[in-house]
Amino acid sequence: MNAIIENHLTTNVGAIHQNATQNVPPLLELKRLSKIFTTDAGQVHALSSVDLVLQRGETLGLVGESGCGKSTLARLIMALYPPSAGEILFDGKNIAQSDKAERLARHARLQMVFQDPFSSLNPRQSIGRTLEEPLIVHRRGDKVARKARVSWLLERVGLHLESAWRYPHEFSGGQRQRIGIARALALRPDLIVCDEAVSALDVSIRAQILNLLLDLRAAYGVAYLFISHDLAVVRHMSDRIAVMYLGKVVEQAPSENIWRAPLHPYTQALMSAIPSPHRKSILGNKKRIILQGDLPSPLNPPSGCRFQTRCPYAEARCRAEEPLLQAADKGHTVACHFAIG
Ligand SMILES: Nc1ncnc2c1ncn2[C@@H]1O[C@H](COP(=O)(O)OP(=O)(O)O)[C@@H](O)[C@H]1O
Ligand code: SF4
Ligand SMILES: [Mg+2]
Repeated sequence: MNAIIENHLTTNVGAIHQNATQNVPPLLELKRLSKIFTTDAGQVHALSSVDLVLQRGETLGLVGESGCGKSTLARLIMALYPPSAGEILFDGKNIAQSDKAERLARHARLQMVFQDPFSSLNPRQSIGRTLEEPLIVHRRGDKVARKARVSWLLERVGLHLESAWRYPHEFSGGQRQRIGIARALALRPDLIVCDEAVSALDVSIRAQILNLLLDLRAAYGVAYLFISHDLAVVRHMSDRIAVMYLGKVVEQAPSENIWRAPLHPYTQALMSAIPSPHRKSILGNKKRIILQGDLPSPLNPPSGCRFQTRCPYAEARCRAEEPLLQAADKGHTVACHFAIG
């Protein structure tokens, strides 16, 4: 699978660099973003002061164990619920302050592909209607133009044109994910948030869908926030990777840095878990870190460093003092008292 994906991988470094030097605001910027859910059991600290930047045409991978806050981050970006604190800037504009027209315009430019396309597709709606609906809502073209666009979308994601007349239950999981991608693509978005978009698929189908996403990026310059618990998948898709642990970003770097020289003990543990013949050569003589136990409860996060209850290097300072993200290298930040120098 990896070889297939590698062949399709195109880096957008030139375009991203151009954005950064032209004084254009980033496509997406998260500033000290936090989300606390109040439940009967207490306050769930799902997301704590997350800072992230995503440039136009870039793919930012977001990786971390189940329960670390990835989907919460995605839902906040999609404005499905409001942040408890912090800001989300899209094109430099705080989305919490947008009026109705701005919200509609953003909706067209910001789309999402879900893990389970079946539950996100209306079972009583034909695929043609599902793909046409966003075009109707956003008044894109007349009926003839919309039909042509639906055919183009189906063709683009590798589905037969007759699929337009069929219903979600008539398709396989991989085909349904293609429909989900076609729907996300319908309005020519600038950013697609993919939340565990291939996690439910068989390995061979997974490679096809990842390659489709990479092809679409190369063809249309769409940016992705690519979310997965699987570091190997994230690495193949992403220009940069942010590693999350219990509601916080603990390391962020260009994809190859994370892969070749992970600095945070948690990132090293994720690397250790990858069944790869190359892992030993990548990690060299570094100790293989096997993650013990489950993610601690976000109802009562550990003091100091949130990873201290599972970190083999934890010392007294780790329990007392929270490590902040610090620059280790160009574009590489890490939050660990002992990772740098
Ligand atoms: N609507 C909600 N109400 C209460 N707790 C929630 C809600 N959504 C998510 N959580 C909790 O927030 C934490 C992060 O969840 P989530 O963002 O789904 O993680 P991930 O996508 O990384 O698996 C988990 O502990 C989860 O139980
Ligand atoms: S700060 Fe301490 S507990 Fe946290 S990752 Fe670094 S060594 Fe481990
Ligand atoms: Mg999730």
